[in-house]
Amino acid sequence: MYKDTNSNNLQINQNEAPISEAMDKYARDGALAFHTPGHKQGLGAHDRLKRLITEEGLRQEVSLMEELDDLHDPSGCIKEAEALAARLWGAKDTLFMINGTTGAIHAMIMGTLSPGDRVLVPRNAHRSIIGGIILAGAVPIYIEPEIIEALGIAGVLTADTVAAAVQAHPEARALIAVYPTYYGMAGDLEAIATILHDHNMLLLVDEAHGAHLKFAESLEVMPRQALDLGADVVAQSTHKVLGSMTQTSMLHIGSDRVSGARIREAAALLQSTSPNQLLLASLDIARLQMATEGRNRLERAVQLSEWLRREINKIEGLYCVGEEILDNTTTKWLDRTRITVNLTGIGLPGPEAELILRHQYKVQCELSDNNNLLFIISMADTEETARRLLEVLKLLAEDHGGEAMESAVVPRDLFTTNEVAVSPREAFYASREKIRLCDAVGCVAAETVAFYPPGVPVLCPGEVIRAELIEAIQKQRAAGMRVVGPSDSTLKYIEVVKE
Ligand SMILES: Cc1ncc(COP(=O)(O)O)c(C=O)c1O
Repeated sequence: MYKDTNSNNLQINQNEAPISEAMDKYARDGALAFHTPGHKQGLGAHDRLKRLITEEGLRQEVSLMEELDDLHDPSGCIKEAEALAARLWGAKDTLFMINGTTGAIHAMIMGTLSPGDRVLVPRNAHRSIIGGIILAGAVPIYIEPEIIEALGIAGVLTADTVAAAVQAHPEARALIAVYPTYYGMAGDLEAIATILHDHNMLLLVDEAHGAHLKFAESLEVMPRQALDLGADVVAQSTHKVLGSMTQTSMLHIGSDRVSGARIREAAALLQSTSPNQLLLASLDIARLQMATEGRNRLERAVQLSEWLRREINKIEGLYCVGEEILDNTTTKWLDRTRITVNLTGIGLPGPEAELILRHQYKVQCELSDNNNLLFIISMADTEETARRLLEVLKLLAEDHGGEAMESAVVPRDLFTTNEVAVSPREAFYASREKIRLCDAVGCVAAETVAFYPPGVPVLCPGEVIRAELIEAIQKQRAAGMRVVGPSDSTLKYIEVVKE
């Protein structure tokens, strides 16, 4: 039976960590293990695994015991932990997810849409959204985000674009928004929510890069989280910006317009029946950490970022994106903890700069694109790490900088809406043939082409391949961008739907 965890009488104490406490209790109980996992609480583990996870970690690495609860029908410690998270982020209910935000997005889409449903999707959606659409059998209507020409990247979705799409497609069931973007840009989500709800449509949000925003709500310069702006369901990457382990995320239910029971059913369909308890505990502990220290840590991260931004902008040839890009109709807010450094002023392509930083100065950025490097400042950063980053950026500009250059690719070609010939699901299951990419103009793609990071598909299954897109794809590859999705990652060939 589905229960709204926020409305029952659970004791809410954010200093507790119910999952971790239950695991500890089971490990100390001393029951002799005749159960999975095969390493039996570390007894049979290889030394290398013991070093990696620690003996204590392995002792607690069990699942499915009665006191450890059932992720798919929680009634004990997982239910309590999810309720604590729901309370902290202000959701009606929260699901702990162990297959990343990809899994959370898949469950969000499968749990709210049905085969044949039309859904509005920004052209710069992450490939997990396309995956969810394939699973659900929905039909995307792509809409174009703003393009920030000076940086050569896609920006936010405007309320005007959404209003026009809603007018043109009143049959759409939902919009799946990416908020904020990887680069921390946020549009007017509140206005978008109003437009959608006025037309009986859902607002589903990929907030992979916004799990920390709740803890910055006292800072006027920071965007507010999607749940507080009217989102119906929100998928957040706890692991990307907070303190949980990679692969762990949360799926928050924000309204009664959706069925929490159906979303839980979808999540159970998509996730393991043997969830890793260490991953679940890390989500619970990350919630405890944010409840007790989140606001202070976030404030410090924002202060550090603002200092860094000012200092980077003093370096000749480098430009660190800041409040000058804000306006009321497009980018309304910028997540100040995202440090986007534009390199066109020193004529250095992003991928080359990334390699120099990594191998010469032992500093790793989050991502590079043709023109920019993106660095994430999180609650883990200190004055020391920020100073080191500043120092290496100075060295990069001084020792590797050259003549200023133009943006490497006209990004509009990558983000222009392609004609959708068949649904992504139909294309995924259709008979295919492999042809040379240069001969594929007018064919219907059977596979996804994305550049990673940020993993945004420039071609989705079911879309008609345009000549300009092929040209833009080839330019991206020549610039050193890593291709993901197609069976031939050199992109000489592509799989298309057989006629
Ligand atoms: C915007 C966006 N959505 C979803 C995802 C998927 O998240 P995960 O890697 O946790 O599956 C990513 C990953 O980079 C992302 O950038």
